[in-house]
Amino acid sequence: MDNLVIRSLITASDLGACADLMASSEPWLTLGQGPIESLRYFQFPHRERYIATLGERLVGFLVLNFQGPFVGYLQAICLAPDCRGRGLGSALVAFAEERIFRDHPNVFLCVSSFNPGARRLYERLGYVVVGDLPDYLVAGHSETLMRKTRGPLRPATHS
Ligand SMILES: CC(C)(COP(=O)(O)OP(=O)(O)OC[C@H]1O[C@@H](n2cnc3c(N)ncnc32)[C@H](O)[C@@H]1OP(=O)(O)O)[C@@H](O)C(=O)NCCC(=O)NCCS
Repeated sequence: MDNLVIRSLITASDLGACADLMASSEPWLTLGQGPIESLRYFQFPHRERYIATLGERLVGFLVLNFQGPFVGYLQAICLAPDCRGRGLGSALVAFAEERIFRDHPNVFLCVSSFNPGARRLYERLGYVVVGDLPDYLVAGHSETLMRKTRGPLRPATHS
């Protein structure tokens, strides 16, 4: 598919390109995440960061978080506007699932209430709504927690 390559984010120039992409795109515009916050976003420890390239061009990114109560969290995913709607986002989600399901039985993610296209994509890929978090990141919008699961965290106990 379009020779999409997904690999770890390593260079400072990749970092800058990802931060630029994030800061110029929804949902982060509405969420008030500017260039400085976007740069920081990619520098938190415990996050695995990947970039997607087509040839020499960086066209997207993926951030996975393996800390916290909902382990196996797809924290952020984005493609350049002109690269959307042709299956690349689905390929990035498939990559995230392969990575997360290797070690954990759940993939979690949040989608903003004003992002129906992304939510439709996740639902088509098998994600189920856990619940809404009203006014969670910004007032007037909610974040919807979604989950795709392969089973419980622990085996059943027998009395
Ligand atoms: C969300 C996002 C990553 C999805 O990536 P994408 O590449 O557009 O996703 P896909 O192309 O796999 O699927 C999107 C649509 O294209 C369609 N599509 C998939 N493959 C296709 C193909 N080969 N040809 C034409 N259409 C295709 C899908 O059916 C889907 O249709 P839908 O809008 O009816 O659901 C991307 O839109 C994006 O970066 N958005 C901005 C950032 C964002 O919202 N991130 C999510 C935060 S939770």
